[in-house]
This record gives sequence, C-alpha cells and structure tokens, in this order.
Amino acid sequence: MLDLNTTVLEETIDPSNWEELRETGHRMLDDMINYIKQSSDRKVWQPIPASVKEALDTAVPREESSLDEVYDSFQKNVLPYALGNTHPRFWGWVCGNGSATGMLADMMASAMNPTTSFGEHADLYVEKQVLDWTKEIYGFPKSSSGILTTGASLANILAITTARNFFNKDIRKRGIRNLDGQLVMYVSAETHSCLQKAVELLGIGSENLRKIAVDENFQVRIDLLEEQIQQDKANGFLPFCIVGNAGTVNTGAIDDLETLAAIAKREGLWFHIDGAFGAVPKLLPEYTERLKGVELADSIAFDYHKWFYVNYDVGGVLIRNPQTHKEAFEINANYLAHHEKGIIAGDLNFNHLGIELSRGFRALKVWMMLKEQGIEKYRRLVRQNIQQARYLAEMVQANDQLQLVAPVPMNIVCFRFYKEGLSADKLNALNKEIVMQLHESGIAAPSFTIIKGAYVIRVAITNHRSKGEDFEILVNEVQRLGEQLLNTD
Ligand SMILES: Cc1ncc(COP(=O)(O)O)c(C=O)c1O
Repeated sequence: MLDLNTTVLEETIDPSNWEELRETGHRMLDDMINYIKQSSDRKVWQPIPASVKEALDTAVPREESSLDEVYDSFQKNVLPYALGNTHPRFWGWVCGNGSATGMLADMMASAMNPTTSFGEHADLYVEKQVLDWTKEIYGFPKSSSGILTTGASLANILAITTARNFFNKDIRKRGIRNLDGQLVMYVSAETHSCLQKAVELLGIGSENLRKIAVDENFQVRIDLLEEQIQQDKANGFLPFCIVGNAGTVNTGAIDDLETLAAIAKREGLWFHIDGAFGAVPKLLPEYTERLKGVELADSIAFDYHKWFYVNYDVGGVLIRNPQTHKEAFEINANYLAHHEKGIIAGDLNFNHLGIELSRGFRALKVWMMLKEQGIEKYRRLVRQNIQQARYLAEMVQANDQLQLVAPVPMNIVCFRFYKEGLSADKLNALNKEIVMQLHESGIAAPSFTIIKGAYVIRVAITNHRSKGEDFEILVNEVQRLGEQLLNTD
C-alpha cells in the first residue's frame, strides 16, 4: 500500500521559500517597468549574436535551477534582442506597442490562470464586457455575438467559417463536397493574406478567392466586383461572402463599405469586414463618413493589440446574428454539459463560439486599459497617429529626394528615396538597403511593401510613444542613407 505521506507525493512547483520568490518578483517588476519606461533610450532593434542563439539552443534542462539563474539568462539572452515595438520609432508591419498597464494585467490574469471557456467565473464576464464595449465602438447591436481571439487572423477565420456554415446548414455534417457547386469569396487585391489562409483552411481553395482589382486609391473596384459576381453565378459557382477592408494592410485604404453592404444584401451574400486596425478611427467623428458601412456588416474582425495599443496577443470578432455564430461552432460534449448550479452553471460559453476550448484570460488587459484610459483618450491618440502620418507625408512631399507612393487615408505612409534616371531595379535595391540599414543601425523600424512594382518604405503608425521629432529623424536618415548609398554606388 502507498504511503501518501511520503514527501515525493507532496512535491510541488510552488517555491520552497516564498520570501525569496517575492524578492526576485519585485526585482523583475521593477526591471520590466524600467524596460518600458526607458523604451526610447535603447536602439529600436539589434542583431542577435551567435552566442545568444547558441544559449537558446540547448537540450531540455534536466535538473532544477534557481529562479534567479533563469532570470539572469532571460536578461542576458532574451530581453536585449526584442522585436523593438515598444520603441517610439517602431512603425513596422502593424504592431502596437503595448503599455505598462497591459503588462500588469497579464501578470494578474496569469495569477488567476483561468481557462476562459465556459462556466461561472468572472473572467468570462470581463470578456463579455469588453465585447459589449467593442459593439458600441463599431456600431454593432448589443444582441450581436463575439469572441476574443489571438488576433485578426484567427478572427477573420472564425468569421469566414461562420459565413460558410451559414451558407449551407449541412456543411458541418457533410462537408463542402456535397454542395452543388464551388464556393467563391470576394476580396480586393489589397486584402490581407490571412483571408487567403481562411479559404484554404476551410476547404474552399485559394483559386476560389476572387481578388478584385483596386482603383488608384487602392479601394476595391465596385464595377469589377459586380461583374465577377454575375459571371460566377452564370457559371454555376456559389458566391457566399464579400470581404470589405476597413484599412488595408499596405496603405490603409478603406473600401466603399456601404456599397459593398448593399451589394451583399442584394446578392444574398454574407458581408464581412476586416477591420484589424483600420476600423478603430470609427471612434473619430471625422471618419464617420469614410467608415460608413462598418455597422452594416454581418461580421467584423479587429485587433486590440494594434491600434488600441494593448499588449500582444488579443483581437476579436463580432457576429451580428448570435444564433448563426453559435450554429457555426457549437458542439455539446457530455463532459462539458451545462448544469443548473456550481462552476459550470454560467451561460457564457465561448467554447461554442470558436475553435479553441482552453483559452487564456486575454480580456483583462483590454478591460483594464479601456477603463484606465477611457475612450476620449483613445480618440486623441488615434487622431494623433493620423496627424503624424499626415506630417510625415507632408515632409516627404516637400523633399525633392523623396516620393510619396500612395495616398494617406489613415495612419500608413508609403514612400521611397527617389533619383531621376535610376532604373526601377536600382531604385528598389536602394530602398531595400535603406530599410535594412535603418533596422541594423537601430535608429528606426519602418517596414516595406511593394506598390505597383516599386519597393517602398512603409510607416504604419499605431504607436502611442511616437513624437513629431521621431518622424523628422526618419526623414533625415532616409535622405542621408539614400545619398550615401548613391555616392558609394
Ligand atoms: C488588415 C489586416 N488584417 C489582418 C491582419 C492580421 O492580424 P493579426 O496579425 O492580428 O493576426 C493584419 C495584420 O497586420 C492586417 O493589417
């Protein structure tokens, strides 16, 4: 018979000395607050030395180490080689820079450590609260449904799954092979690649994603969209969804959402909006007109970790019809069945609204940041970023050696160093070198994209730490590097 009092059965991960842990924990907290506070004192980014990569490529640890030792290794090998998006001059891709409050919220969420999935515990109500606030922001009815996700990619996938399963109620049971035609979905050529992932994952196939060309403002061509839908219908395809962009990833273009909503309604299609970052200016009265139609969508995907500056990772999706949302994902398993009382009694069942069962408490950081800052402050910050984009665009336009490559409808500026007479290939190579040198020097981190065949420097401003002078530094450095590279050519 086993002796349950033997020490080996009482082993735990908890510290043997809580006071020692407290001391290390306080030191970590102080260090991390300083890390965030001193973001602007560091280089934006620095290369990872080979020795650090070696230190991060070892066999599984066999024996215990002290927390202090582990923390030392983190400080030496991890912390200095971050992406850099806490820095005021990080404008790459569409990365938010997080906040100290978000960091603290993550700590508290982690201490509670719930799986935010089903049952009767407050974290589920916090998520509901955050979603209800978001409905208010995007003009969705309170009756609509939603779920937080790791980001807009998953949010888009959940929305398109809901649209697909709504199109034919048998799809969940019989798959898409039993449809009497091929499903097709409509996006603009500027739509984010995660929507291609969605149709690939959902068995629709990227061939059946109709990438409709855009106009000179990078907005979807409505005439071509309408033609394509009619042609597809005539050819026996099964159109099921139109996706509109509230802010394209390349340039921040906003499609004509109201017209897209009307076409979807007329044609009996689901209307989804990818509003990953670009739906956020819905907060601003000056964007009411341009973002008209957001509130008409059947679903919208969005992020908090981009333009709400919440720490990674958290996005979400809203689905107008709660029944449709549930019907897309609900499965009733014996071991998860609802009870009238106890831990499993609650009605908030996120397990029925997405594909994950276990989920972290990512709502807490959004809840805390929105409560602490208030929506008026967010209005000012989002407006500030848009004004910074205009300031940068004006500086580019006023500079003979720089060229603005796309309109700036929001917070993204695409430009390049330009020299009359240089071939397209040389200009591309020159601008790519400028971006790489900006990164390597640690001065600034814009990213890049290709616009009409031209490699461009792309500045996406979802940064609450950037100041006017940061953009002046960027312009000066691009000019300096461009001239230097021309002279050494
Ligand atoms: C327009 C758009 N949609 C979707 C995404 C994907 O979002 P996430 O990175 O949160 O998955 C992005 C990311 O930048 C985006 O800009």
